[in-house]
Amino acid sequence: MKPSICLSILVSVLLVQAQEKEFHSFQEVYNNSPVPLQVLQYKESDTLNLIYNESLLMRRGTLDNVSSECISITFTIASFLRLERESLLGLKARSLYINNAIVDIQKGFISPGSLKSLILDNCGTPETLLTVPKIFTDLEELHFYSNNLPVIPSKTFVSMKNLKRLSLVLSNIVTLELGCFSGLNDLLVLNLSYNRFTSLPSGVFDGFSKLKHLYVDNCHDLKQIDVNAFRGMDSLGELWLQNNSIDSLQVGLFDDLRSLAALSLESTNITHIPKGVFDKVKTLRVIYLKNNRITSIEPNAFAVLNLESLELSGGLSQDALAPGIFNGLTVEDLHLRGNDIREIKPNVWDGLFAENVNLSSNNLTKISVEYFAGLNTTTLYLLANGITEIAQNAFKNTHVKEIDLRNNTIKTVEKTTWGLPESVKITIE
Ligand SMILES: *[C@@H]1O[C@H](CO)[C@@H](O)[C@H](O)[C@H]1NC(C)=O
Ligand SMILES: *[C@@H]1O[C@H](CO)[C@@H](O)[C@H](O)[C@H]1NC(C)=O
Ligand SMILES: *[C@@H]1O[C@H](CO)[C@@H](O)[C@H](O)[C@H]1NC(C)=O
Ligand SMILES: *[C@@H]1O[C@H](CO)[C@@H](O)[C@H](O)[C@H]1NC(C)=O
Ligand SMILES: *[C@@H]1O[C@H](CO)[C@@H](O)[C@H](O)[C@H]1NC(C)=O
Ligand SMILES: *[C@@H]1O[C@H](CO)[C@@H](O)[C@H](O)[C@H]1NC(C)=O
Ligand SMILES: *[C@@H]1O[C@H](CO)[C@@H](O)[C@H](O)[C@H]1NC(C)=O
Ligand SMILES: *[C@@H]1O[C@H](CO)[C@@H](O)[C@H](O)[C@H]1NC(C)=O
Ligand SMILES: *[C@@H]1O[C@H](CO)[C@@H](O)[C@H](O)[C@H]1NC(C)=O
Repeated sequence: MKPSICLSILVSVLLVQAQEKEFHSFQEVYNNSPVPLQVLQYKESDTLNLIYNESLLMRRGTLDNVSSECISITFTIASFLRLERESLLGLKARSLYINNAIVDIQKGFISPGSLKSLILDNCGTPETLLTVPKIFTDLEELHFYSNNLPVIPSKTFVSMKNLKRLSLVLSNIVTLELGCFSGLNDLLVLNLSYNRFTSLPSGVFDGFSKLKHLYVDNCHDLKQIDVNAFRGMDSLGELWLQNNSIDSLQVGLFDDLRSLAALSLESTNITHIPKGVFDKVKTLRVIYLKNNRITSIEPNAFAVLNLESLELSGGLSQDALAPGIFNGLTVEDLHLRGNDIREIKPNVWDGLFAENVNLSSNNLTKISVEYFAGLNTTTLYLLANGITEIAQNAFKNTHVKEIDLRNNTIKTVEKTTWGLPESVKITIE
């Protein structure tokens, strides 16, 4: 169905609402188009915000006299925006944001060289699929939010050689065809959050040797990541994979990520951490493994790492806390909060060097002598564990300098009984 463009040349009251408004020649600018419902021009951000309540046809020169860096066009009801061949020819803005309109670009459209950033937000309907406007060849940023792009075909972005940032967020993507990102050799940031694909196939990110940030979080149907999905991503510093349905981590998956500093695997269905999965990523500083249902960790799984933070709060089962799992790990903050831990087996802390170990909000009600034997940490957090009893010499064989025991029922501090030197700081309230 061809969109019918409703053109209004009615002169109506122009509502100018802004604290810091600039009075450009709005009358001339909107000569040929429907008058916007509101025009907001913010000097500070240098954004001209146009709000329409009906479809808009843009002709040559429509935005010629607008000096703003950014132009935002928002439609209060689902509309059409038709861009004629030369409609953006004299555009000076670097950034164009379009919200709530199906964008109809006419044949032979001339892409304005000044435009570096295009944002299409809610610009598709279930019936009308958005197609990526390949015509904007000078873009450095392209962002799609809430659109309808079930398939990203091969070579979709091949004409956009300068693209540095690409978002395809909440865009109903089911299929990422092989080679769909080919040609994006300078891309630095890719955001694929909130889509519906079920797998990341081998080589899907090929060519992304400069990519620094990859966000594939909240793709709730994502179950399968091929062991070669991230191959060749030498520069990747940040990888977000939280809130997906992946249930296993294959050894080799992260092997090419020689610059990776932060990895999020929060809230997935991972149950097992195999040894070797992090062995080649010695640059890692932060790993989020919160809110999973981890039932086993192989000894030495974190052996080569020197981290700022390892997040294992929420969902780590009591059984996973087994001897040797932290062997060889150096970490500033080891978080093990809220895991319903009721006891700690011997040798769990072997080979661990930590600054802070946080075991708050567990159920270590009676601290026995073997729980912390060999623990090498400066500070131990044991808040809110329902602790009623601490055994004789319970902290003797540790190197702690500080223990936080707040929110327990312990009333008196007995350093000597607990096997601690006088210098150790204990907080109970
Ligand atoms: C832009 O401004 C120039 C000079 O003031 C004027 O001649 C021209 O008609 C304006 N163009 C539009 C589309 O308003
Ligand atoms: C848009 O707003 C103008 C001015 O308020 C009004 O005259 C016109 O009827 C509205 N159009 C629609 C489609 O609501
Ligand atoms: C990806 O895009 C979503 C939607 O705009 C945003 O909320 C999220 O912060 C982005 N991710 C990152 C890490 O920038
Ligand atoms: C995961 O998804 C839930 C529900 O959609 C949301 O509330 C939560 O913020 C998400 N967590 C992360 C880490 O993205
Ligand atoms: C992942 O775990 C959630 C519950 O935490 C469950 O509802 C969902 O079915 C699981 N997904 C898969 C693909 O197993
Ligand atoms: C404790 O860890 C530190 C490094 O954080 C290390 O220098 C020290 O030798 C360790 N102490 C013991 C007794 O293992
Ligand atoms: C340890 O956990 C408790 C409770 O969640 C929190 O209040 C405290 O700030 C945490 N300590 C550190 C160093 O993260
Ligand atoms: C463990 O502690 C939490 C809160 O700290 C509490 O809700 C839960 O009932 C406790 N479980 C057991 C088995 O004591
Ligand atoms: C400790 O108890 C106080 C007061 O009941 C509460 O506000 C705080 O959240 C508790 N902290 C933890 C870590 O449970």
